[in-house]
Amino acid sequence: MAEAQPLPDGVDPTRPSPARMYDFMLGGTHNLEIDRQATQRIYAQAPDLFDGAWANRGFHGRAARWLAAECGIRQFIDIGSGLPTQQNTHEVVHAVDPAARVAYVDSDPMVLLLGAEMLADDGTTAVLHADLREPGTVLNHPDLRALIDFDQPTAVLMTAVLHFVPDAADPWGLVARYVNACAPGSYLALSHTTRDKIPANQIETVVQVYEGATESVFPRSLAEVERFFDGLEIVPPYPGAGPVITHAGFWGAEDPQTADSDGARAFYCGVARKP
Ligand SMILES: C[S@@+](CC[C@H](N)C(=O)[O-])C[C@H]1O[C@@H](n2cnc3c(N)ncnc32)[C@H](O)[C@@H]1O
Repeated sequence: MAEAQPLPDGVDPTRPSPARMYDFMLGGTHNLEIDRQATQRIYAQAPDLFDGAWANRGFHGRAARWLAAECGIRQFIDIGSGLPTQQNTHEVVHAVDPAARVAYVDSDPMVLLLGAEMLADDGTTAVLHADLREPGTVLNHPDLRALIDFDQPTAVLMTAVLHFVPDAADPWGLVARYVNACAPGSYLALSHTTRDKIPANQIETVVQVYEGATESVFPRSLAEVERFFDGLEIVPPYPGAGPVITHAGFWGAEDPQTADSDGARAFYCGVARKP
């Protein structure tokens, strides 16, 4: 976004925001100088930052495509959806079925740009400006209810968002609220940042920089990420794998041997079916 353009209501230009920083990491234009500076502070310590963001975004797209193409899912709730970028969820799933429906949910006020700039004006998409920590508000929102039939299988996408929710807000209970609202045969696709295998100086810089942002970040261990999938059937992330949580580069990889990267190890990810 050109700095001269008027900012949407509610945007705090004095603090970096996770949505705008991630947009910058992915080469987008909906970010401010303060977001770019914060991102560069991390990059100075963690040169795999941009690779990690792309690895996470790649997982998001591969999972959405797989859910539409291989599982027949036709309705998606993309929670913590982020700002307009390449390969938006509705673009990915519309390539499989143009009638597939996507409800985007994000707490960043800049997300209002999504509606203006990105959405198909064909009744298949909506953007909710809402906080995932208020599942009743999200799940009962009339715009979401207009798109999502909870009697039919639904994919809940929660990629790179739950690490912005502290333990005190019970992110595990929140995920369960969303999954419980969905019919059997629904899916959860989730990714989450971790400090496992990441050099301590790098992850501490990430945590410190986000402490000055609109949301703090809470990296979690493999066991803590696995807990998000309690009661669900984790799908193997690539042919020959078991039902495991893996790193972002591996999921859906044609060749898992070459899919690993330092940046991709910053994210655990998985997809699971609700029995
Ligand atoms: C790193 S981006 C991830 C975007 C996208 N899901 C992806 O993985 O490519 C995180 C997004 O989560 C949003 N977010 C953070 N906390 C949130 C909350 N409590 N409720 C809804 N959205 C939230 C941010 O505004 C941001 O757009």
